[in-house]
Amino acid sequence: MAPIETLQTALPPLEHPLEDGWTLPASWYSDAAVAERERERIFERTWQYGGPAELVAEPGSFTTTHAGHIPVVVVRDDEGALRAFVNVCRHRGHLVASGSGCRATLQCPYHAWTYALDGSLRRAPRSERVPGFDPDAFSLLPVSVDTWGPFLFVNPDPEATPLAETLGELPEIVARSGLKLETLRFHSHHDWPIEANWKVALENYLECYHCPTAHPGFSKVIDVDPDSYALSVSPTFSSQIGPVRESALRPNGKSGFVPVGEVVHSQYHFLWPNTTVNIAPGPANISLERWVPDGTGRTVEVTDYWFGADVPPEIVEELLEWDDQVGREDTDLVMSVQAGLNSRTVLQGRLMGDSERLIADFQRRVYDALV
Ligand code: FES
Ligand SMILES: [Fe+2]
Repeated sequence: MAPIETLQTALPPLEHPLEDGWTLPASWYSDAAVAERERERIFERTWQYGGPAELVAEPGSFTTTHAGHIPVVVVRDDEGALRAFVNVCRHRGHLVASGSGCRATLQCPYHAWTYALDGSLRRAPRSERVPGFDPDAFSLLPVSVDTWGPFLFVNPDPEATPLAETLGELPEIVARSGLKLETLRFHSHHDWPIEANWKVALENYLECYHCPTAHPGFSKVIDVDPDSYALSVSPTFSSQIGPVRESALRPNGKSGFVPVGEVVHSQYHFLWPNTTVNIAPGPANISLERWVPDGTGRTVEVTDYWFGADVPPEIVEELLEWDDQVGREDTDLVMSVQAGLNSRTVLQGRLMGDSERLIADFQRRVYDALV
C-alpha cells in the first residue's frame, strides 16, 4: 500500500499562471492524486443536484443518489421532514438502500441491520451477544439535504451552509425565463457515460466558442455570436444566455426542432462544482444534471428532464432529439480532448479571453480548492 504521504505531496506545478490565460496542466486531468484531492476538497463539501424531489414527497418515501462519489439515501420521515444519510451500512459497508420507494425502515440487505428513518440503528441481529455493543454509536451518517422547487440537492457536509445561500440569484434568473417550476412535470432520467475527466466535460459545457464549428444544428437555433451570446459569472455559479435566431422561428417547412413557445432565450447555468441547469428555448422545459467523476478518465452525466404538462409529446421528442444531437457532438469532442491531454504533450492550453472566461472562472475554483 502506498504511504499516506503520497496523497499529501504537492500537486504537479503550474509552469504558466492561470491569470495569464493558461489552462490547468494536462496532468491534472488524469493524475490520481489530483482526483483524490478533488474528492476530499470539492465533492465532500458542496451542494450537488440529487434528483427529483417528487420521489420523496410522501412520509416514508426514500430515494438513492450520489454526492460526487458518496452514495446518499434521502428519506421523508414520518413527521414529513426531509433527511439524508450516507447510504453505507455502519456494519461493513454494504449499500443500505437501492432505487426509490416507500418503507417504514431501511434494512441493509447483507446482514439485515435495520435503520429507522431518522438514521438510528434499530436492530442488528445477534448484537445482544456482543458485549458492550452500543447501537446508538452506529447510526447512519447524516448528510445535508434541501430542495429548490422540484429539485433535490444534497451536500455530504452535515454542517453545510444553507442551499439558498449557494443558489444565490439563480432561482430568480431561472424565473425570469418565464418558467414556472411548480407547473412542470418530470419526464425522464438519463445517464450518459463520457470517457473523459469531469473537468474536461464541464469545461466543454462552459463555452460556446466551439458551437459554430461543432454544433451546426444548435447554432442554427441559438445565436452564438459573441455579441449576442451573454456570459456572466456570479459568486457560486456562471451563466450562458443565448437568444433564438429569428430564422429558427421560420422553419421553411423543414422538420426538426422549432423553438416556438413561452421561453424566448436559452439558459445554461453551471453551479459549482458539478450541477448544470439547462433551459432550451420554446416550450416549457428544464433539465438538471449532475456530472459525476468516475475515476480520473470517466464521467457520468446524470440528466433529469421536466416539461410543461401541456407540451405535446411530439414537441418533447423534437426537443430531446435536438438536445441529444448536441450531447453526441460534445461527447466526441471531450473524448478527443482527453486523448490529447493523456499524451502529456501540450502541457498547458491557452484560453481565448471573453469567449472562455467561464472556463477561467471554473479552473480558478478548482485551483483554489486543491492548492
Ligand atoms: S454490511 Fe450491512 S448488515 Fe452487514
Ligand atoms: Fe457543446
